[in-house]
Amino acid sequence: MLRIIAESAEIVDEPSPATPDPAPDPAIVRTIALVGLMGAGKSAIGKRLAQRLGLPFVDADIEIEAAAGCTIEEFFERFGEAEFRAGERRVIQRLLDGPPHVLATGGGAFMDPQTRALMREKATTIWLRADLAVLLERVARRSNRPLLKNGDPRGTLERLMALRYPVYAEADLVVDSRDAPADRTAEDVHAALMRHLGVATGEAT
Ligand code: S3P
Repeated sequence: MLRIIAESAEIVDEPSPATPDPAPDPAIVRTIALVGLMGAGKSAIGKRLAQRLGLPFVDADIEIEAAAGCTIEEFFERFGEAEFRAGERRVIQRLLDGPPHVLATGGGAFMDPQTRALMREKATTIWLRADLAVLLERVARRSNRPLLKNGDPRGTLERLMALRYPVYAEADLVVDSRDAPADRTAEDVHAALMRHLGVATGEAT
């Protein structure tokens, strides 16, 4: 695990214990990284996709919090966004150097040019694209996102959509994250991934 010491934002590398592999899909030889805005469903869908693929699921935000020893909210308050992005980049790099898994990344990770280049080099990237109504409904369920603390989540998300969607479009695959159960979208993502990899699943698409 990478360790970001919160007091100094210093990074110390510590390998994490290997997660036992259930029965990985042999078609998956690299990590599947999910990108998309806050509320796109990266964690909920990622967990279900990982189950379908027999791969471990890793949430980059949770790894960052464990490494930092504080919440992302606290990290932003103490050190600001630039320091967060640097730590995020190191944690994602470490994860991508490990065995294949399904990785949910924070909404800003793919916007960092270096993190994006790493992800494109070492992972199959999937953008979970959602419209504003879906995002707004989902982000309302949690109040711990520093970028949405300005009292105008709609305006912020609209601004981030304009800024980020053209960049998220550089992902290898795009799947719409609709107002549907996460299982359903995970099925869509799985089918799109298998098509991308040229694997026949027998599932109707
Ligand atoms: C961020 C998204 C968050 C978290 C941080 C910054 C962003 O992750 O990494 O608050 O810049 O969009 P989620 O997308 O998982 O909410």
